[in-house]
Amino acid sequence: MLLDRYGRAATDLRVSLTDRCNLRCSYCMPAEGLDWLPTPEVLTDDEVVRLIDIAVTHLGVSEVRFTGGEPLIRRGFADIVARTARLRPRPQMAVTTNGLGLDKVAGALAAAGLDRVNVSLDTIRPDTFMAITRRDRFHDVVKGLAAAADAGLTPVKINAVLLRGHNEDQAPELLRWCIERGYDLRFIEQMPLDAQHSWSREQMITADEILASLRSEFDLSDHPDDRGSAPAELFVVDGGPSTVGVIASVTRPFCGDCDRVRLTADGQVRNCLFAREESDLRTAIRTGASDSELADRWRIAMWSKRPGHGIDDESFLQPVRSMSAIGG
Ligand code: GTP
Ligand code: 5AD
Ligand code: SF4
Repeated sequence: MLLDRYGRAATDLRVSLTDRCNLRCSYCMPAEGLDWLPTPEVLTDDEVVRLIDIAVTHLGVSEVRFTGGEPLIRRGFADIVARTARLRPRPQMAVTTNGLGLDKVAGALAAAGLDRVNVSLDTIRPDTFMAITRRDRFHDVVKGLAAAADAGLTPVKINAVLLRGHNEDQAPELLRWCIERGYDLRFIEQMPLDAQHSWSREQMITADEILASLRSEFDLSDHPDDRGSAPAELFVVDGGPSTVGVIASVTRPFCGDCDRVRLTADGQVRNCLFAREESDLRTAIRTGASDSELADRWRIAMWSKRPGHGIDDESFLQPVRSMSAIGG
């Protein structure tokens, strides 16, 4: 198992497949993009699958989430999914995507064994979408969502970030739109992970504000189910069955129940989203390490996981990699 000294076990592996993205969300990266990883540093499909195999067969990982950047732009993605689906015990597989191009690949991904998708969508207004993402692609995301639902990649979940001055007043209309279409909406508090280091606690929209805004139009009650290790706190909307989630990493941290471990596209293990140290499995894999040696390195990397992200600490420092290079 991937244990840490605080008694947590990581069973949910988040695998970033590329640091590149085809949107330029202002809360994530600058308009000109970032310095992408050089191709030779990115794990090959075989290396990715080998590491997932080790995680599943040696380390107790039971869920694999593919992230990016934008994971759908990785050419070998469907093949990586198909090969992961052949591992035993077969892990649950999901992808977190911006939805661009999902309409074209949803069927193939479902056939390859993908179980479900989370799609990022911050607004249902095309002009606000353009202002936040710097690309005029709202309708492509809508098509992607519909295709995912048609392909059975359900429940389709939607992640939304609210930004002051852009969409802070749009939470109720987004929730109504999602409920009408059967998508499970979650709002995420903005985290200090943007490449431009422009996050500020004063500017971010808090869970309390999100909930107050939703309550102006909906009745929200606590969800009866135990949340377990899930980042999202769930609320029942207007008596059900619809729900809405709030992922309040900043004002209501959930680190004590964390079951996640991350692998970057260049083969570094991160024991926390906010980790400042990484463990280099790529060099190990390329210098002939055996599966059990790689598993041992991975266990050691997990043991030093800190109890929490420490955003409120005086000494907090934003990680060197930004969100798009970690995978969220
Ligand atoms: P499911 O609900 O199982 O689909 O997964 P999820 O909510 O973990 O997945 P998703 O990739 O959609 O993540 C949604 C948001 O939660 C993203 O902004 C993530 O960065 C954030 N998130 C996921 N895991 C963690 C975590 O371990 N710590 C923190 N602080 N945020 C997380
Ligand atoms: N804080 C919170 N969420 C973020 N995302 C990207 N950057 C941030 C940030 N700084 C969201 C995306 C996507 C998910 C993976 O993370 O909108 O839904
Ligand atoms: Fe887990 Fe780190 Fe996220 Fe906390 S901030 S929930 S420890 S990954």
